[in-house]
Amino acid sequence: MTLQEFLAELELFASEANRCFQAAGDLTALEAARIEFLGARSGRLKQLQKSLGQLPSVDRPQAGQRFHQVRREVESAFQAAQERLADRQKTVRSAEVFDPTIPGVRPVVGHLHPITQTIDQLKEIMGRLGFSLADGPEVEDEWHNFEALNIPPDHPARDPLDNFYLAAASRLAGGAGPSMLLRSQTSTVQIRVMERQKPPVRIIAVGRVYRPDTPDQTHSPMFHQIEGLLVDRRVTMADLKSVLRMLGMSYFHGEVHIRFRPSFFPFTEPSVEIDMNWQGRWIEMGGAGMVDPNVLRAVGYDPEEVSGFAFGLGIERLCMRQHGIDDIREFYRNDVRFLRQF
Ligand code: DAH
Repeated sequence: MTLQEFLAELELFASEANRCFQAAGDLTALEAARIEFLGARSGRLKQLQKSLGQLPSVDRPQAGQRFHQVRREVESAFQAAQERLADRQKTVRSAEVFDPTIPGVRPVVGHLHPITQTIDQLKEIMGRLGFSLADGPEVEDEWHNFEALNIPPDHPARDPLDNFYLAAASRLAGGAGPSMLLRSQTSTVQIRVMERQKPPVRIIAVGRVYRPDTPDQTHSPMFHQIEGLLVDRRVTMADLKSVLRMLGMSYFHGEVHIRFRPSFFPFTEPSVEIDMNWQGRWIEMGGAGMVDPNVLRAVGYDPEEVSGFAFGLGIERLCMRQHGIDDIREFYRNDVRFLRQF
């Protein structure tokens, strides 16, 4: 190879390398071009370096000078192309993050459970009627769940097969002392309130109660009740019926009729079952009555001075009737396809 031929090859190499580096559309293409032209083992520059060594020694200084110039030029052309592509990839990536035209992902927003919604509505309605909210424990002693409510030790309602007695909790409460149980009714809160408050009393209590029933369409071993208690001078069953009617009409948003059927509860006298009629159908919603004098005496009230009414309603029943739900178990399955409807 002559000097002229070598210099011509060198120029051809430079222009082709520059063109390829500039034309590379991404870093992968650029890397392929780098290997072809500048690859350390068999790149075209390496070939030229070998040719340089074979030139006559007189030509070598001139050829070598040009060779090094071209190498620097081509290497910096490669670097420029590399920076250009890296920059482009950066802007492409940040455009992905900040593109304001891409529709957002809408977060799934939940809502209150239908039972909670019903509880909130009942609290709000009874609040407007002047009833404040009272609370009591779900693990109760026999005094509040039975004794003070005029339910004697041999009463069938206290049967171990009908209650969740808690051996461990009973032992903690004092060994041979009172046995504890998961409360079977919210009537317990009547006692807790009257024990610490003088009349007049006007409260509701809302919460869970427990009974060992096998779950079916209308039974659950855990369900919710709303308890009402009003104690004052000259309270009558007419007051009871009016309050229940207003509660029903506000909750169902319509005409509601109340029917009392004679019944028996140890803690009320007289006692009634409450039926509500809404949209032409009667449904039993709970029990009620005038607070038994024995209960008033148990909490230190004077039955000659004050009288009161009490009621207990099933919250699931109210909610099921409102929405046309026909299986109480749906409330506790946590199937969002059911819950989403309310
Ligand atoms: N505690 C009763 C039950 O669980 C319901 C009830 C009846 C509550 C009469 C009352 C009442 O306050 O006066 O079945």
